[in-house]
Amino acid sequence: MNQAAPLDTAAGETVAEGTVAGETTTGRHRRLSRRVAHPAPEALPFDLAELITDPSTRIVVCCGAGGVGKTTTSAALALAAAAAGRTVVVLTIDPARRLAQSLGLGELDNEPRRVDVPGAEGELHAMMLDMKRTFDDVVVAHSTPERAEQVFANPFYQALSSSFAGTQEYMAMEKLGQLRAGGQWDLIVVDTPPSRSALDFLDAPNRMSRFLDGTMIRLLTAPARAGGRAGFKVASAGFLFFSRIISKILGGQLLRDISAFVAALDTMFGGFRERATATYELLRRPGTWFVVVATPEPDALREASYFVDRLSAEQMPLAGLVLNRTHPPATTALTATRADGAAEEVLEAGGEGAELAAGALRVHAERMTVAAREQRLADRFTSAHPQVAVRTVPAAAGDVHDLDGLRGMADALTGPDDDTPTGVPRRRILPARRR
Ligand SMILES: Nc1ncnc2c1ncn2[C@@H]1O[C@H](COP(=O)(O)OP(=O)(O)OP(=O)(O)O)[C@@H](O)[C@H]1O
Ligand SMILES: [Mg+2]
Repeated sequence: MNQAAPLDTAAGETVAEGTVAGETTTGRHRRLSRRVAHPAPEALPFDLAELITDPSTRIVVCCGAGGVGKTTTSAALALAAAAAGRTVVVLTIDPARRLAQSLGLGELDNEPRRVDVPGAEGELHAMMLDMKRTFDDVVVAHSTPERAEQVFANPFYQALSSSFAGTQEYMAMEKLGQLRAGGQWDLIVVDTPPSRSALDFLDAPNRMSRFLDGTMIRLLTAPARAGGRAGFKVASAGFLFFSRIISKILGGQLLRDISAFVAALDTMFGGFRERATATYELLRRPGTWFVVVATPEPDALREASYFVDRLSAEQMPLAGLVLNRTHPPATTALTATRADGAAEEVLEAGGEGAELAAGALRVHAERMTVAAREQRLADRFTSAHPQVAVRTVPAAAGDVHDLDGLRGMADALTGPDDDTPTGVPRRRILPARRR
């Protein structure tokens, strides 16, 4: 058994991470086990069913690194809350086309639409954020019609409203503020934009107001703001020099566009900053909860770690971590080592079906190894953040793009902690190590 050294090592790690009660281990495995001097603390259970059905929960924000399942988790949680009787709106951002279609969102219309969910006691409404329309609405709300027209026609505004880094995050917050102010929803579930860093969402309001209020933009637009020619008189020689250089680099037209834009927005400065601050505060109010989503991969978990630390520094309420797309084995009663050993033996014995049986055993061994790696990453996160509750969601066989898929995901997110096919609680991928 186990002649191949690399396999042995991988299997040894598996045992060290996922020993099942009653298994005997070889001496080498025991040595590997002993190397883990301090077993990771077991994560706290994460009761998402209670969170989303509690009437005092009014906003749930799903954050995380790019591609980890924020949009899917948001939609699944909203569906579960609606099924349980709440009137829910989910604000999705760039959902995959098929998911959007299954939510009845054929096109961007920036307003919630009711989703037909057979058997739901409550109501599910879904919307996709239209960043530009949201920005336009803010401009209209804060200026006269003529001014708004000027702003809309300005090429600089057109660029800012559709492509400035952070505009999407800022507008998602803006939309959240609007939805909350409407008072129509028991629960608002907010998806966050597909940025590299989960922190971008929290940084957006500040970045936006810093940008609009920034020194550079103030300098650039000083003449326009001070009123045409008179303004030039007050502008210092230093500014004129600076302005000429910038003009050269950016082109005079762009500079004029920026000047005109900021002049038109001048009355809105206070408005933008106030709104950004108010929405940021909304995120801190009781009733708002953050759900951090990650996959069992180093980058995604590192991002989740930063985010958790930031929430705690900002005194924002973290509900817990959803560890999405995990790969639990069908059974944990057979370690990778034993499955690989059995595969060898079956092959040696030969006979009909030996190849097939050995293949199945090897697949299981591989699956145990993957699960052990994922568990190790999860344990590392829990060691660093023992106070963070965790819920694991196994990878579905295919993409989650329809209501049935979302229901499956909702069950995995909100079902009882110990109600899993392998009996392993949903806060773990493999059974806890023996202490
Ligand atoms: N548990 C799961 N099992 C299988 N597929 C999943 C699971 N969760 C998410 N997916 C799939 O992974 C892909 C990415 O998911 P999703 O769009 O929700 O991620 P995201 O974090 O919103 O991404 P982005 O950062 O690009 O917005 C989708 O195709 C989705 O169907
Ligand atoms: Mg998304």
